[in-house]
Amino acid sequence: MKKMKGIILSGGTATRLFPLTHTTSKQLLPVYDKQMIFYPLNTLVRAGIKDILIIVAPREAGQYLNLLGPIFDRHDVRLEFKVQSAPRGLAEAFILGENFIDNDNVTMILGDNIFEDDLSSSIKNFRFGGEVFAKAVPDPERFGIVEFDAKGKAISIEEKPKKPKSNYCVTGAYIYDNRVVKIAKNLKPSARGEIEITSVNQKYLEMGELKVNILKGDWLDAGTFDALLEASRIVKEKNISKNFDPKIEKAIAEFNEEMKDFSKKMLIKSK
Ligand code: G1P
Repeated sequence: MKKMKGIILSGGTATRLFPLTHTTSKQLLPVYDKQMIFYPLNTLVRAGIKDILIIVAPREAGQYLNLLGPIFDRHDVRLEFKVQSAPRGLAEAFILGENFIDNDNVTMILGDNIFEDDLSSSIKNFRFGGEVFAKAVPDPERFGIVEFDAKGKAISIEEKPKKPKSNYCVTGAYIYDNRVVKIAKNLKPSARGEIEITSVNQKYLEMGELKVNILKGDWLDAGTFDALLEASRIVKEKNISKNFDPKIEKAIAEFNEEMKDFSKKMLIKSK
């Protein structure tokens, strides 16, 4: 059986969060008591994924290594890092990640997406095709939008439609079989010059192999100041950051201890 690998896409410039993102990556900003990246990382780790590729922008690559580099190996989670030199679309993750994915299946999560739902059973039970997660939103023009027929079957997906056919947004977690690499490589850039994840989903839909799940709980993409504030509020209220996989909790606790030791040593040195 094929393994399931994970990718977290944390590239991009996050201009909507300037000036905060002048000094760090959006996905390293805090959401309540944890850096944002830990939320998608938790979604993958709690589903049993042990090999995770984190795709980052060149400027902040060192910050990601400082935070995540040394702490996970001991907990049976292997992290790899890859630099995306310029944001060329979400589907580029599968091209950058080709060697990492190898012959396996892959779950990709956007680094700013926080899911209240546990996606583990979908990830663990996945066999072939594509699987995505939809959520009703008040502003469908901003997202990839899925249309359903009367029986609830997905019949079309459009990226940022001017006239949305529904208010169900395709959120930023995607499970695909190994064919996704070839599909991504054959995509043509859209009008905004990006190779779109929506085109990948359209391809699986055309093949009759796209499963669309509806999320029950909250879904947050912390891309604006208001969304960032709201994300912290909901994470606190719903205890989302207090229910992490023990592997992540341990890794974070060890990192904190190491940082305390390091600060002590620096203090002693400077005396
Ligand atoms: C991207 C995808 C879109 C999806 C959204 C979820 O939009 O292109 O289909 O609905 O993520 O966060 P972007 O963040 O590039 O505007």
